[in-house]
Amino acid sequence: MNKTALVTGASRGIGREIVKLLSGRGIRVFATGRDTGQLESLRKETGCLAAAFDLAQAEVPAKLYAAAKVALGTAPDFLINNAGFNRRKMPVTDITAADLDEHYAVNLRAAVLLCSEAMRDMIPRRSGHIINVASTVVWHQAENYSVYCATKCALHGFTVSLIKEARVHGIKVTGVYPGGTDTTFRALERPDYMRPESAARMIVDTLFAPDDVVVHQLTFRPMAETNF
Ligand SMILES: NC(=O)c1ccc[n+]([C@@H]2O[C@H](COP(=O)([O-])OP(=O)(O)OC[C@H]3O[C@@H](n4cnc5c(N)ncnc54)[C@H](OP(=O)(O)O)[C@@H]3O)[C@@H](O)[C@H]2O)c1
Repeated sequence: MNKTALVTGASRGIGREIVKLLSGRGIRVFATGRDTGQLESLRKETGCLAAAFDLAQAEVPAKLYAAAKVALGTAPDFLINNAGFNRRKMPVTDITAADLDEHYAVNLRAAVLLCSEAMRDMIPRRSGHIINVASTVVWHQAENYSVYCATKCALHGFTVSLIKEARVHGIKVTGVYPGGTDTTFRALERPDYMRPESAARMIVDTLFAPDDVVVHQLTFRPMAETNF
């Protein structure tokens, strides 16, 4: 398949598995995260292009997008905003300005700015597909996760608006809402949660929906989870 993709949060977890699946389908992928060692091993394993960028810095999303375009030789057909984190469980009384800024920068601002960059190329092409990875916390908020929930709910709000703006230009947009997945996202191992490769398969499959179909919202959970 003669397509290109930019995947964030690709050094570990769900994003890493997304890169493997896309590369296996012949898509040229630019993979990014911060861990250069993990990115290098992914590059060797899949043949993807890869470079490290810290999305917490405001100027980085534009730089990353430009670097991906140069490396791929063209604008990406698929943008997968997957990078995200939750630093720790924090009661509201413990939240600091630094906590808020850091979560906002990675979980929301970077994704929004990358969408903006990608839309500028996708609009004249009248094609493309953007995926924003949120969480089931958008539908079911939990105590002690208020900052993470707030940033993922904001990403959801942005994505719904983008779906409407992009549709008139023939561009597909999907908001993804995974439940618990057994990655390094949390310190604790959760073998009862989804395997990252399973979550990645659900996400990648939306890119291969029939041409006349767009998946607007994709929610999925491990069978162990009852937060619905
Ligand atoms: N695991 C779950 O249960 C779960 C559930 C719902 C939603 N999600 C969402 O799914 C997405 C993927 O999560 P995951 O479980 O695969 O997490 P993960 O294993 O912790 O991987 C997170 C990825 O995000 C990257 N990242 C974090 N901060 C970054 C920064 N400042 N700059 C650039 N990259 C950064 C990491 O890169 P480095 O390691 O190289 O820094 C890593 O590649 C996230 O958006 C998460 O919120 C996860």
